[in-house]
Amino acid sequence: MRRPQLIVVDDAEAASAVAVARVLALLAAKPQAVLGLATGETMRPVHRRLVEAHRRGAVSFARARSFNLDEYIGLRPGHPASFASFMRRTLFDAVDFAAGTTHLPDGGDPSAYEAAIKAAGGIDLQLLGIGGNGHIGFNEPGSDFASRTRVVRLAEATRAANAPAFAPDPVPGQAVTMGIGTILEARAIVLIATGGAKAQAVAAALGPATTPDCPASALRLHPAAVIVADRAAAAGIS
Ligand code: GLP
Repeated sequence: MRRPQLIVVDDAEAASAVAVARVLALLAAKPQAVLGLATGETMRPVHRRLVEAHRRGAVSFARARSFNLDEYIGLRPGHPASFASFMRRTLFDAVDFAAGTTHLPDGGDPSAYEAAIKAAGGIDLQLLGIGGNGHIGFNEPGSDFASRTRVVRLAEATRAANAPAFAPDPVPGQAVTMGIGTILEARAIVLIATGGAKAQAVAAALGPATTPDCPASALRLHPAAVIVADRAAAAGIS
């Protein structure tokens, strides 16, 4: 089993620059590429750089397609803390994806998402963040490495981490997420980890073997996964 390639950079800005360079290179080589996109604070500088690149004419998404990793269940359409809203605010409204080419999973029909990814030809490059407990997407510890897009119950630690986006309301208890098996089918994977709160999870992801206790450790099963960590997130690696 292969350990994911590790790239350590100084800070979150540098980490996002590495990830964005890969997205730009992919779209330059394959303008119709299928992108796997992610949400969370880690992705803000990534999306900001993609928007900047688009504004200076360095990239077009006009022929690309995208599939996001996950979404909460039970939020009204347009809820500001939904991942759909986050994607519109941070990326989609500012770049040139064609109408109907950006997708988020729907808890009502998870298998349709799998079919749509297949029909698009599969994901060329999947961007990932990582939860403090090692989750990828919303695949919490204990998730099966063969899991597919499905409805999941969120770990309390995850709900606590995401509480600021919902305050004073509670964080939903359920979400729909691509499975670990779905994620591992992407042709390339770039996981970005920034900040000391991710240090333990990154160390576990790069540990001696895969473990369901750290869903990100499943990246060992992928032939070409890359982890881009800043110094703080890489601090626990022995
Ligand atoms: C969230 C998302 C993940 C994300 C992770 C880290 O709950 N479902 O896709 O990668 O947790 O989030 P952040 O980047 O805000 O630390």
